[in-house]
Amino acid sequence: MNQQIVASLLEAAESRHSVRNFLPDALSDETLNELDDFIKELEVPFAHHTQIKRFKAEPGKKLYNNGINSPDNIAILAQTDLISVSKAGFCGQLIMLKLTSMGVRTCWFGHYKLQELAKYVGKDLAAKERIQETTWGLGYGYGNVVDAGERAICCIACGYANPEARRLVDKVASRNGIGRKPLEALMENPSDLSILPETVIRALNKARLAPSAANSQMWRFGIRDNGKTITAAKPIGYKHFKWEHPDADIGICAAHLWLALLNEGYFVQVEMKQDADRRLL
Ligand SMILES: Cc1cc2nc3c(=O)[nH]c(=O)nc-3n(C[C@H](O)[C@H](O)[C@H](O)COP(=O)(O)O)c2cc1C
Repeated sequence: MNQQIVASLLEAAESRHSVRNFLPDALSDETLNELDDFIKELEVPFAHHTQIKRFKAEPGKKLYNNGINSPDNIAILAQTDLISVSKAGFCGQLIMLKLTSMGVRTCWFGHYKLQELAKYVGKDLAAKERIQETTWGLGYGYGNVVDAGERAICCIACGYANPEARRLVDKVASRNGIGRKPLEALMENPSDLSILPETVIRALNKARLAPSAANSQMWRFGIRDNGKTITAAKPIGYKHFKWEHPDADIGICAAHLWLALLNEGYFVQVEMKQDADRRLL
């Protein structure tokens, strides 16, 4: 990836925070064209089959669990195995950072109403018969059942922030969002930090800023081969009580780490592998 693009996406990674309350204004054609070009030429360091579908949602409909739709949205679709889900997170985060760099505010949504989404992305990919909508009895997300085959993994709401209408839920959510665990708490072995050069510590600190469902930050960094290999994975056996795809979050974090290492001038090879019940980068 071109160094200028890397730098602008990384700058966006440092400033980005979720917005859940949007103005009704749609994104301009110019912004959408630039976004579409970015998606079409998306450069990632692995082969993948992630599908990225941009769509307009009807105003006032309850696509998301806070009941507020942004006019423009992106659905990220993939197979539900851990590697495909991680790759979907990685691709989605690069798109989110591109949007941020263009002044567009965003929020990941792992919980969305399938029946609403099916209207926009096609019945086969988000069909009600495939998975029962169970979360909290409200019909958002798909509960504990992980469906096989391709389906919507997450959506990204995109638009302009509504500064007038920050409800309590948004204020609490963004306050939670600002907090990130210190790097030591995210290392499989904190003493590894002492063998790493400043450049790698800086990169890990950028990875730490990645968004995660419910801000759970369950990624853990492992250092192998004397610092030449960095792994990012959830702890073995980790499960979130209402988020079915924590490996998407690992991919999201890995996208930050990849950009940050490229920005430090490293030649970076990315390999996605499965390790027990988790995806290892
Ligand atoms: C994979 C994923 C799924 C998410 N799903 C939701 C969601 O369903 N509803 C919501 O309000 N926020 C959702 N979020 C946003 C997180 O709560 C938010 O990113 C986190 O609290 C960190 O805050 P920040 O994005 O402001 O830095 C999700 C984030 C990720 C990465």
